[in-house]
Amino acid sequence: MEVRLQKFLADAGVASRRKAEELILAGKIQVNGVTVTELGTKVDNETDEVYYNGKRVKGAGKHVYIMLNKPEGFVTTVKDQFDRPTVMDLIKGVKERVVPVGRLDYDTSGLLLLTNDGELTYKLTHPSKQVEKTYIAKLFGRPDENNIREFSYGVKIDTGLTQPAKLEILEDLGKYCVCKITITEGKNRQVRKMCDAIKHPVATLKRVGTGNIELGDLKKGAYRYLTDREVAYLKSL
Ligand code: URA
Repeated sequence: MEVRLQKFLADAGVASRRKAEELILAGKIQVNGVTVTELGTKVDNETDEVYYNGKRVKGAGKHVYIMLNKPEGFVTTVKDQFDRPTVMDLIKGVKERVVPVGRLDYDTSGLLLLTNDGELTYKLTHPSKQVEKTYIAKLFGRPDENNIREFSYGVKIDTGLTQPAKLEILEDLGKYCVCKITITEGKNRQVRKMCDAIKHPVATLKRVGTGNIELGDLKKGAYRYLTDREVAYLKSL
């Protein structure tokens, strides 16, 4: 099937469509041995040989959308520089070249989406996209009404004031509290930093929802394919 070169690159997970356009314009892409700098160029996603950085880019084939329940102790990356276990080790049965959509920290567990749909990855991780992400956090101590109000205005962390967020106490365990936290951004270690800022640091953190997609009872370390309905919902965001 013939597709535009930038779509071919985005579908193959090389970059977002916009970044792929930049790569083409910069003369970084070769098709059948010839450098292509024309944005409208079409390629056959089965027969044409597309190269980036001297490596063949394989057509993505069909798009797949996966939800993984990431355990603690895995890095959200395709290859870790320190050779630690990565989330890719947990989806060995998937032959498509999927990549994680956003990131969960090494010590955070829960819902992680992976896909080879570069367009959707770009859309969902773009800062302008305010998709709610919901976490269950065990915090030291018990946040009070002021802390809850602070969350609702936004909390000052090292990168500035966060967007308004929600903090709800689910259970008081004495030394700890189980809380539901909802944020709309994806800044580095954001929930941990927000909880540090209100002096109730995170003991454990698990993501349980992205928009209305829920982790449900998926076992730790297991993955499943998203339903057509879930995929349609993500595309509609
Ligand atoms: N916030 C964090 O602090 N860590 C994560 O992994 C996700 C959100």
